[in-house]
Order: sequence, then structure tokens, then C-alpha cells
Amino acid sequence: MYICICNAVTDRDIQRAVEEGACSLNCLQETLAVSTCCGQCADNATACLERALHETQATATA
Ligand code: FES
Repeated sequence: MYICICNAVTDRDIQRAVEEGACSLNCLQETLAVSTCCGQCADNATACLERALHETQATATA
């Protein structure tokens, strides 16, 4: 699912970035350019980031 239309960033892109070490919206902006154009996706990108961080932590502790 697309999270950032301006930069064609999907939830899978964000999940992959988190698995590779991204841990903040700033990190995602640097690596994927999410939320660097109109900014309308910032809330959804942050929610997706938090889900991905939670899933990554759950996988790491399983
Ligand atoms: S939708 Fe993400 S910057 Fe515009």
C-alpha cells in the first residue's frame, strides 16, 4: 500500500528500511524521501514506522 504518493513509498519500503536500521521519521526521510514533498503523509508514515518498529522488536525477541 502506498504511504507517500509524492515519492511512491510503500509500507513495505518502510518495513524494509526499519529492518535495515531506520528508527525515526527523519531516518525515513533521508533513506526513502518519504514526507519530503507535500507532507500530507507524515502521520501515516509515522504510524507505519511505529508498526514496523513494533513488528521488528517482536520478531527480534521471539
Ligand atoms: S504524499 Fe508524501 S510528501 Fe506528499
